[in-house]
Amino acid sequence: MGMLHIFIQIAIALLVFTHTKSCTQASTQTNGTVKKCIAHERSALLTFRAGLSDPANRLSSWEGGNCCQWKGVQCSNTTGHVVKLDLQGPDLNCDVQVLGGKISSSLIGLQHLQYLDLSCNRFNKEQIPEFLGSLHGLRYLDLSQSSFVGRIPPQLGNLSNLRYLNLNSIVGHSVDITWLSRLSSLQHLDMSWVNLSTITNWVSVVNKLPSLVSLDLSSCKLSTSPDSLLHSNLTSLESLSISANQFHKRIAPNWFWDLRSLKQLDVSFSQLHGPFPYELGNMTSLVQLDLSENNLVGMIPSNLKNLCNLEDLSLYKNNINGSITEFFNRLPSCSWNKLKRLFLPSSNLTGSLPAKLEPFRNLAWLYLSDNKLTGPVPLWVGQLSNLAELDLSSNNLDGALHEGHLSGLVNLERLSLADNSIAIRVNSTWVPLFNLTELELRSCPLGPKFPTWLRWQTNIKNLDISNTSISDMVPDWFWTTASSVDTLNMRTNQMSCFLSPKIELMRASGMDLSSNQFSGPIPKLSINLTDLDLSRNNFYGPLPLEFGAPMLETLFLYDNLISGTIPSSLCKLRRLRFLDLTGNKLTGTLPDCQDYESTTNMTGLNIRILSLRNNSLSGEFPLVFQYCQQLRFLDLSYNQFVGTLDSWIGNKLPSLAFMRLRHNKFCGHIPLGLTNLINLQYLDLAYNNLSGIIPKSIVNWKGMALRDEKDDESYDAMSSGISFDTNEMVEFNDNFTVVTKGQEQLYQGEIIYMVNLDLSFNNLTGEIPSEICTLVALNNLNLSWNAFSGKIPEKIGDLVQVESLDLSHNELSGEIPTSLSALTYLSHLNLSYNNLSGKIPSGNQLQVLDDQASIYVGNQGLCGPPLTKKCPEINLGPAAPEDHKDGSDNIFLFLGMSSGFVMGLWSAFCIFLFKTKWRNVCFTFYDASYDWVYVWLRCRR
Ligand SMILES: *[C@@H]1O[C@H](CO)[C@@H](O)[C@H](O)[C@H]1NC(C)=O
Ligand SMILES: *[C@@H]1O[C@H](CO)[C@@H](O)[C@H](O)[C@H]1NC(C)=O
Ligand SMILES: *[C@@H]1O[C@H](CO)[C@@H](O)[C@H](O)[C@H]1NC(C)=O
Ligand SMILES: *[C@@H]1O[C@H](CO)[C@@H](O)[C@H](O)[C@H]1NC(C)=O
Ligand SMILES: *[C@@H]1O[C@H](CO)[C@@H](O)[C@H](O)[C@H]1NC(C)=O
Repeated sequence: MGMLHIFIQIAIALLVFTHTKSCTQASTQTNGTVKKCIAHERSALLTFRAGLSDPANRLSSWEGGNCCQWKGVQCSNTTGHVVKLDLQGPDLNCDVQVLGGKISSSLIGLQHLQYLDLSCNRFNKEQIPEFLGSLHGLRYLDLSQSSFVGRIPPQLGNLSNLRYLNLNSIVGHSVDITWLSRLSSLQHLDMSWVNLSTITNWVSVVNKLPSLVSLDLSSCKLSTSPDSLLHSNLTSLESLSISANQFHKRIAPNWFWDLRSLKQLDVSFSQLHGPFPYELGNMTSLVQLDLSENNLVGMIPSNLKNLCNLEDLSLYKNNINGSITEFFNRLPSCSWNKLKRLFLPSSNLTGSLPAKLEPFRNLAWLYLSDNKLTGPVPLWVGQLSNLAELDLSSNNLDGALHEGHLSGLVNLERLSLADNSIAIRVNSTWVPLFNLTELELRSCPLGPKFPTWLRWQTNIKNLDISNTSISDMVPDWFWTTASSVDTLNMRTNQMSCFLSPKIELMRASGMDLSSNQFSGPIPKLSINLTDLDLSRNNFYGPLPLEFGAPMLETLFLYDNLISGTIPSSLCKLRRLRFLDLTGNKLTGTLPDCQDYESTTNMTGLNIRILSLRNNSLSGEFPLVFQYCQQLRFLDLSYNQFVGTLDSWIGNKLPSLAFMRLRHNKFCGHIPLGLTNLINLQYLDLAYNNLSGIIPKSIVNWKGMALRDEKDDESYDAMSSGISFDTNEMVEFNDNFTVVTKGQEQLYQGEIIYMVNLDLSFNNLTGEIPSEICTLVALNNLNLSWNAFSGKIPEKIGDLVQVESLDLSHNELSGEIPTSLSALTYLSHLNLSYNNLSGKIPSGNQLQVLDDQASIYVGNQGLCGPPLTKKCPEINLGPAAPEDHKDGSDNIFLFLGMSSGFVMGLWSAFCIFLFKTKWRNVCFTFYDASYDWVYVWLRCRR
């Protein structure tokens, strides 16, 4: 969370670049002693207005004779000329309220105009009009963030009275800014976010502006920065921001160190390197200094004692690589009472915080997260009475905080001690004076008692007390206290109790109570909830009939004791992406959602990841998946599902990449349709009653055939345009066991990298199709305990990624292909109990596998090492007996007899009903009838 905070800081900083001034203030007009408007100026204004588009009617007051009373218009008290035109758009977010259209040259009629503000509007893709350069009276010109594009007209250089110029975010490439040097009265210049990448002389141009007080050229793609200025005109410059440029040079020498008048210097994100500059010591006016995100190395210089005005210091993400005590000692002591903000996360600060320190009386923000600080938090922290935010997260701090550390922090709003070993030991009756909005204590040893002082923190938006060794009942007041949190994280504790019905009234959008001892039924959820993790608890009873959280996207309830059926109200959770009910006691069939599908005009469910593993669910392969076009990961393993795998699976689940159906009672054969799942990379059908052959069309499983990440693009292109966000899976850290290399292995998110085909423990027959050798991305191939016959495919050695290969307990015959020795990743091989014969191939990986003999045991005809049986001098290779006793003959016989009848019937039916596309339809019907007949025979034996 410390990092998150830093990112927010950066985001805010970036916003500040783009938003250099507030765009929210609406112009108001005091009429006072209003002069009458001058007629030709009035008509100039009306012509100007006519060119504008004004969808929100912001200029509705622009009528009537006295234009001096129009909104945004201001006339001189003495002469009556229009002197000010302030049409700044409202808040950037209120896009609809902006002005657009064309800027009429009639504005030239306002020759006394001193102030023109058109910022924060949308003059879509218009160039800045050149004629603005003839409004010689202009002192203030703001065209920022109004979607102007193209060249900035050099005519603006004629505005010699200009004091203020803001061209922030003009989109375009400025090739020449020498015109700027003619604006000799200019005090404030903002050209941030204007592309000045080709301009090398920018410093000498701005050096011609002796009145300049503030200069903002951040994010201008500047690449040059001279070491020094021979003669500096910039004696009044107080604020310089050249952050987020690409100077690629040492931080010193650099021209800006000569600017002794600077109060604010921001050169963050500018690719500067070297040690912290000694020149800093001369910058006695500095109030605010930001050197963040450069590659500066080493301690700050020792000569800072005259920086007595310093209030705000940001050195985030440099490599100070020295002790925090030394760092504090080098901060100018004369500024200690002025310092408001110290921003030092990720700065490689070491050592413990000094035990004694003259407190920084004004310090409001202290960020020391993600350093290497050790030892206890000293008591002086408690004297920082102005502190609003304290972030010490991700260090190695320890010891305890008690009342003395906390009672004085009356203004504290945000406290993060996360990922340290800091305990909080306060009296159970202690009432803090602060009212926090954010509290992160992750991994701090708070327990075993639930912290009672939390009771008074009723304003918290973000509360993280995960992994804090709390082993206690959650007091009922807590759910009231937490009723206004946005995110609540209490995972990995030993908290117990039923969840209070008050949960329904909470505002939270995210709650993680996983890995605790919570029990009782799952209560109705609150309406704002999007992410809920209650996994690894003792919840029991049925799922709520109404979840009550229509926005829910993530619902993790795995490893609980939940029983009963899955309610059909789940069909209403249209945003649900991740659902994990693994390891419960659920029974019955899945709702088919058909009612919801026909009564709503929404198209399907949004579910991506679904795991129902390890329950007692039953019924056929659930029809609800017909509405789950987005489904990527499906785990129904270890349940009681029955019936056949239908061909529609291949057509209705185009995104499916992982299908785990292990340990169910599916029967029938592997339908051809299943091979339409081109994204399939993980298929586990082990321990079912599947029969028949492996179809040759498995070559379609591109997910198992594409080898490296480089192929991802083609992979996505093929996957019917639905791309797989792998991060989704990585975040999802349920544990999966995968049987590979002869044992169960535990996987978490990394399962997404596994390519697996496991058909073991079924009744599959026929030859192993040679097409299997095209699935070259396979890591694990397990066909054991079936009735496969014929030879091992010759090209088995093409499966170069295979780590585990198990063909044991089949009826395979013939010789072992020598290509097997090409499998260099192979670490587990089992060919035992087949009818293999001939000489065992040798070489490479085959030689180093463990337990050599057991790989080949139970094959009468095999000879040569590692077996003791010697091979005959001339190996004739005993012919494999070609007997098909496996019953598939019967099926084909039956089909042969009946298919004439069946096909005849279907064909007539098809032609009669479906004249168009009859071929397709009938093909499908034929496939289905084949399925049906086959299954009828197999499943009813
Ligand atoms: C400003 O002008 C409006 C419209 O003429 C009038 O209603 C209002 O009273 C004036 N305000 C002042 C302060 O004179
Ligand atoms: C014009 O008059 C208003 C109202 O009396 C006053 O606030 C403002 O300062 C005057 N402006 C000038 C330029 O004198
Ligand atoms: C300083 O500014 C003046 C006035 O704009 C200008 O004439 C002079 O050349 C500038 N000096 C340098 C070194 O640019
Ligand atoms: C400014 O700093 C530089 C480098 O440390 C030093 O050489 C110079 O004397 C200082 N100038 C003043 C005016 O202090
Ligand atoms: C911190 O300092 C160590 C040397 O003590 C260095 O190896 C490491 O790269 C530094 N870390 C960062 C983020 O600069």
